[in-house]
Amino acid sequence: MREENLKRKEQIEKPEGRLGVLVPGLGGAVSTTFIAGVELVRRGIAEPVGSLTQLGTIRLGKRFEHRVPRIKEFIPLASLDDLVFGGWDIYEANAYEAAMYARVLSRDHMEAIKGFLSGIVPMKAAFSRQFVKNLDGVHVKPGGDLRQHVEALKEDIRRFREDHQLDRCVMIWCGSTEVHLQVEDIHQSPQSLRRAVDQNHPHVAPSMLYAMAALESGVPFINGAPNLTVDIPAMVQMAREHNIPIAGKDFKTGQTLMKTILAPGLKARMLGLEGWYSTNILGNRDGLVLDDKDSFKTKEESKLSVLEYILQPQLYPSLYKNYYHKVTINYYPPRGDNKEGWDCVDIFGWLGYPMQIKVDFLCRDSILAAPLILDLVLFMDLAQRVGMSGIQEWLSFYFKSPMHKSNLYPEYDLFIQLMKLKNTLRYLMGEEQITHFGLDYYMNGETQ
Ligand SMILES: NC(=O)c1ccc[n+]([C@@H]2O[C@H](COP(=O)([O-])OP(=O)(O)OC[C@H]3O[C@@H](n4cnc5c(N)ncnc54)[C@H](O)[C@@H]3O)[C@@H](O)[C@H]2O)c1
Repeated sequence: MREENLKRKEQIEKPEGRLGVLVPGLGGAVSTTFIAGVELVRRGIAEPVGSLTQLGTIRLGKRFEHRVPRIKEFIPLASLDDLVFGGWDIYEANAYEAAMYARVLSRDHMEAIKGFLSGIVPMKAAFSRQFVKNLDGVHVKPGGDLRQHVEALKEDIRRFREDHQLDRCVMIWCGSTEVHLQVEDIHQSPQSLRRAVDQNHPHVAPSMLYAMAALESGVPFINGAPNLTVDIPAMVQMAREHNIPIAGKDFKTGQTLMKTILAPGLKARMLGLEGWYSTNILGNRDGLVLDDKDSFKTKEESKLSVLEYILQPQLYPSLYKNYYHKVTINYYPPRGDNKEGWDCVDIFGWLGYPMQIKVDFLCRDSILAAPLILDLVLFMDLAQRVGMSGIQEWLSFYFKSPMHKSNLYPEYDLFIQLMKLKNTLRYLMGEEQITHFGLDYYMNGETQ
């Protein structure tokens, strides 16, 4: 992306008209909680808690200027009223039936928007059981020809746009976690990936077909799961060729969110780490999918990388060289979507004396993920209007395994990620970056 191609301030296209939100995995717990939540907020029944775009503010200029607008008033974001939802699932249940199955929201909330949710019906999915072994749905596109699947998905997008008279669309993968794949030759360039699709290569995952269809249809793509999907050189190049932003991967919620809040604090104080043991019990469909070892391996890799990048053992060998890090997820149906994540953190302080931290986070998986989806959709639509393409590292804030340029390491620290996000918004709107340093303050005591 070249700076001169970026639109700034007044040049940024206004978010006029309707924005389509296309969700592979439409019938999942996360998707339905997101869609239902937006509708409840639109009707004034509930608050968009957890959403930076809806509730967050941004400081501008010096502290004495007292300029702290709401983010949504500072930058031109699409209005919630303009969002239109659609997508695909391997089960034909409409969004109301699927949300009832997920058992995340209360009966009161569900009944208030029953009519609205019942009208959102999934399109047939591009699916292969080779990639999600513990699920088997029948609401799928026929045959196994991958090229035909890509073309059928593109046709779905075209029809969705036309039927709802949409001005713009964003696609966000909220489908199940697919089995672990390594980046290999077929994933290296757009040409090799297209050839692999034509040859029905077994290592082209269904999520990649959706991403290809999105990019070829001019639609930004976000990956909420830890699958490779767009995190391969072929897709990054394709996104650049089509001038489309992409982002991923794996929503940062629950235990990993806590980890990326705690670990930077320990490092800031130069406290050492002996070990970090994390375990979860989870009883929703995601838990069932992750009960398969190949899907779990995809998730495990995403969860494990976090500490390594935050603690930088190569820079602080005496504090972080040999810590033991273990993550497990146990499928336990009685808890449904209400996950429990335990962390046992063994740290050491002054002169090496040991201490312990225990975290028991009784969280709600989809309640934590839904506001992230909303923010990502709105920010990716902004990115598209601004002219940003390729990997959107400024959105790392939302991901467990942020996609990053091959010559740079990813930024995992939640607080650095937030600063990066807000500074990007300031830059786009022609405001100065906030560094928290002001020479005047030291020279004559003026506040900054
Ligand atoms: N909830 C969280 O906090 C969280 C955090 C990070 C990542 N995620 C990821 O988000 C995704 C969704 O989570 P969830 O709890 O809603 O899971 P879920 O199992 O309830 O929903 C996933 C849906 O995807 C559908 N699906 C699977 N393959 C598909 C395909 N090829 N095309 C279309 N639909 C397909 C399934 O039928 C299911 O309805 C998972 O990959 C999960 O790992 C969730």
